Amino acid sequence: MLKQVGEIYSWIPNAHIRVLTKGEGLQAAENMENSNEQIESQPQFHTFGACEIEILRSFCLIIFGASGDLAKRKLMPALYHLFEDGLLPDNFFIFCTDRIEMNIEQYRELIKDALESALPRDFKPSGWLKFAKRLYYSPFNYTDMDSYKIDLKKRLPSLEKRHGTDGNRVFYLAIPPTILENVIINIGETGLSVEENGYSHIVIEKPFGRSFETARNLNNVLKKYFEEKQIFRIDHYVAKETVQNMLMFRFANSILEPLWNRRYIDHIQITASEMLGVEHRAGYYEEAGVIRDMFQSHMFQLLAVTAMEPPAAFKADYVRDEKIKVFRSMRPFPTERLNDFIAIGQYGKGTINGKPVAGYREEPGVSPKSITPTFAAMKVFIDNWRWNGVPFYLRSGKRLPVRKTEISIHYKQVPHMMFSKVMDEIIEPNVLVFRLQPEEGISLTFQTKKPGTKVCLNPIQMDFSYQKDVFLDAYEWVLLDCILGDQMLFLRQEGVEETWSLLTPAIENLETTTEVTNFPNYSTGSSGPDEARLLIEKDGRTWKPLIAEKPDESIHITRLRGHKP
Ligand code: BG6
Repeated sequence: MLKQVGEIYSWIPNAHIRVLTKGEGLQAAENMENSNEQIESQPQFHTFGACEIEILRSFCLIIFGASGDLAKRKLMPALYHLFEDGLLPDNFFIFCTDRIEMNIEQYRELIKDALESALPRDFKPSGWLKFAKRLYYSPFNYTDMDSYKIDLKKRLPSLEKRHGTDGNRVFYLAIPPTILENVIINIGETGLSVEENGYSHIVIEKPFGRSFETARNLNNVLKKYFEEKQIFRIDHYVAKETVQNMLMFRFANSILEPLWNRRYIDHIQITASEMLGVEHRAGYYEEAGVIRDMFQSHMFQLLAVTAMEPPAAFKADYVRDEKIKVFRSMRPFPTERLNDFIAIGQYGKGTINGKPVAGYREEPGVSPKSITPTFAAMKVFIDNWRWNGVPFYLRSGKRLPVRKTEISIHYKQVPHMMFSKVMDEIIEPNVLVFRLQPEEGISLTFQTKKPGTKVCLNPIQMDFSYQKDVFLDAYEWVLLDCILGDQMLFLRQEGVEETWSLLTPAIENLETTTEVTNFPNYSTGSSGPDEARLLIEKDGRTWKPLIAEKPDESIHITRLRGHKP
């Protein structure tokens, strides 16, 4: 076991997460006492676990799409958790809007049910009663200006006065991409984007557009009413604890940097495998498909965190600059040889956990002739000095046999096999794995001598489990940060447009060349289509198995010639 040294957060620089070590927190409090500045302008901290987190200033969160899936499954549970953990200020309220006609009691009941099912262990009736008092609901017509003028602009000031929220507003758009632009325009035209008394932030969920063109249009609409510092484009993957830890791991440990380049690394694999199918999201997913849904943002963000250069300082724009440089260095996909770089698939029927499951085309709302891909594998090159010639293999799909997201760094073979005279097998190269979910952690495999035997190697794993230390969910971090106004976890316009400009020609090509008869090409519960296996095997490499092979001496011991294991 790799031993964790000290309190894990004590060495994390204070940045987007506003986590201070206890010492720093006390110092901040002391400074506050000795200062002549007004108390309100000073950050306050809450001790939580081993660290202190900045308490938000007063705010009003306005959720569009507040009875939708995202609100029920992610936003409300995250807000409720933050509230229960004392990480929300005394002065806040949540103004919820949606198309559905219901009164506040009905809305609160809806959210109560959602919280009970999302947080079966953490839901507390007494906590709920206090939380519910902060919830308001207004049925809303997103295309009608009167909704914005009467239900929102007119109503907000009196609620803000009642809750003392100082005019700080966060507009959270948890709505379908098709109405996004319209809502932004209406918010802007009503004057709600103007920062008069407090701040006005706008939060946009992915997918941010569906092509380079649409992403640019959306950015232009946003820019008409909001400044970049007011805009928060969410990718919740960036906020996952292990993704942030990767930055610390890479840039706070000097032993890694010399080994983090084409000289030592053979290739890198990034995997996001899901067991879930499309569920009830066919309307959106049929239009999106896996490349827009998972690659344009989540997978490319993981790639950027892995490949970026060290930023000069741990500041939002410095970190985002480095990520954007990675996107700019990515080699465009050659559309005439796309099959050598991208393999796609769609799940057919099969079994998950021993139970039969329908194929994608049989899912409710999906066309029986759908050519929407639910799986993709890609080979990507980054044309810069550090990564020249190192392939990054990315894969993501639905209805695979496990839920697993990880980044694995595959080192090169040892340059000279001094054991070759006595050994039958090639020594497995070292692999460094960052597990993002479900069991957050880092592991490194390397070869050791098997105790007792004379010349026998045994690959072992040094494992650091991060799971017990993960104390805030990705949505909790993004909510805290968009309210605080910290841009570190959010995407910048250039980054979004760069990724779309890489992917749009490839997506368009695939959409015009995929035949109905190409799909389904992998069964539910399998590791994906054969095309994905071939994509990497053509290069003499293999995917890291999705399901870990059973610990078995015959697999794990590298046998030596003439020696019985
Ligand atoms: C979302 C995608 O952004 O991420 C979903 O739209 C996907 O299709 C989900 O299932 C995966 O998120 P997580 O955090 O469960 O890995």
